[in-house]
This record gives sequence, C-alpha cells and structure tokens, in this order.
Amino acid sequence: MNEASVLVAPDPTRVPGTLREELGCLPRHIAIVMDGNGRWASQRRRPRTFGHRAGQKAVRAAVEFCLREGIQALTLFAFSSENWQRPASEIKALMDLFLRALDREIKSLQENNVRLRFIGDLDSFDGPLRQRMARGQTVTQGNTALALNVAVSYGGRWDITQACQRLARQVQAGELAPEAIDEAAIDARLSLAELPPLDLLIRTGGERRISNFLLWQLAYAELYFTETLWPDIDPAAMRAACVDFAGRERRYGLTSEQVQS
Ligand code: IPE
Ligand code: IPE
Ligand code: MG
Repeated sequence: MNEASVLVAPDPTRVPGTLREELGCLPRHIAIVMDGNGRWASQRRRPRTFGHRAGQKAVRAAVEFCLREGIQALTLFAFSSENWQRPASEIKALMDLFLRALDREIKSLQENNVRLRFIGDLDSFDGPLRQRMARGQTVTQGNTALALNVAVSYGGRWDITQACQRLARQVQAGELAPEAIDEAAIDARLSLAELPPLDLLIRTGGERRISNFLLWQLAYAELYFTETLWPDIDPAAMRAACVDFAGRERRYGLTSEQVQS
C-alpha cells in the first residue's frame, strides 16, 4: 500500500452520525464510581435503598450509551471492599438488588452481545450470589460488543495485593524469576488485564476522590467529576463526560509541542 492510499483509506472507527464522528475520539474504556444514591433518596425523604433501586435505571442508560457509541469497555464500581462496613440492613438490601438484577438483566445483556464480568473479592459473597455471578459470566463470555465489568467487594489495594500474591506463588514454584517482575507482569495479573487501558474515570455525586477504586489502572486516565447524583445520570450526562474527554490533551509526560507534532 503506498502512502497516498493510506491517506484516503476510510477509518473504520468513524461512523457518520455517531458521537465518535462528531468528537473525533471517544474513550475506549470508561470506569464509573456510581455515587450519590443515598443522597438522592434522602432528598426525597426516602430510605437509602430507594436510591440504590433508582440507580439501576442509570446503569442501563450507561450500558446502552456505551453500546450505541461503540465504547469497548465499561467498568462500574457497585460495591467497595469498604462498603461491607455499612449497616447490615443496607448491605442485605444491596445483595438482594444484585441478585434480582442478575436474574433480570442477563437475557438483555446476551441479546445485546455484552460480555459481563465481575471483578473483586468474589469469595466474600454467599453461595447463591456467587453462583449467579458465575453463571452470568459463563453465559455471556463469547460476547464482543461491550465488555461490562462490575466491581463488587472491590478495592484497588485488594487488586494490587492479589496480583502480588499470584506473582509470589509463581516465584515460589520456580516459574518466574524475581527479576522478571516488571510493570507488564504486574499489569497482567490485575483485574481488567486483557482490556483496553482505562481512558476516562467518571465519578458522580460530587466527591472528588478515588475511594480505593482502580488505583494502578488509573495512572493515566482522565478524571471527570460531576455533581449529578448517580440515579439522575442519563445518556446526555454520559455524552457530556465524553465531550469533556475529547477536549483533553493527553500528554503522558511529554510537552504539548511534542504531542501535537
Ligand atoms: C453509591 O451511593 C452506591 C454504593 C456505594 C453502594 P452511596 O450509597 O454511597 O450514596 P451516598 O454517597 O451516600 O449519597
Ligand atoms: C464508592 O462510593 C464506592 C461505590 C460507588 C461503590 P462510597 O460512597 O463508598 O465512597 P466514599 O465513602 O464517599 O469515599
Ligand atoms: Mg457514597
């Protein structure tokens, strides 16, 4: 192929009429800290669990947005390793909600070619929930339109710790030399290893912190914070985050001149 034909070759990622076409670039992988359910409910003088239930509609909106716009991966923070310290009644309500959502949504994920995966310390869940999660992963494992990762009982420090344990076991078994442990070796043993790098982190609910989400994977992600509470997130809010992302210059330590040349 000569140079001229490279210049005229159509870019398969530019589909007319899509947000990708309009903005010129979209994140490949979006992660979201879905925060603000409790406050959303309090504003309505309802129990916190009412907010968690309402948040499910926003999950659907985010998934549909990613499917429509051709985003490859979406990672949602649903329950942190620290959230186990919440009142037992709220934890129980959340687990019931997860269970029912799994039963209800698998069919639609399957129809939409979505691959579902759970990341986190899954051993901390009870049998029925673990089985449902495993089934959801198995049923959808061949799907290719969107990788949907749900972080449950997840902590960024847990993730790095379990990667270290895996490396240590391999060193102990004589399968790996300590000198062979480089950034790529650690990366390969973390959750989300095979997925595109994280481009954009969205946190709803107004707090500007990471709350022990993807610590390693966030190294060069763009961060986007919005005051909007999670249950109020809709396609327009997802779009606003992507528009903001498209306006960022990602320099990775270089100068602006280097990036633009
Ligand atoms: C996020 O909403 C959902 C979970 C952590 C499970 P919150 O429940 O943290 O809502 P706020 O932050 O109290 O409003
Ligand atoms: C982070 O939200 C965890 C999830 C959204 C699942 P939290 O509400 O638990 O975070 P903090 O306590 O405000 O840091
Ligand atoms: Mg919160």
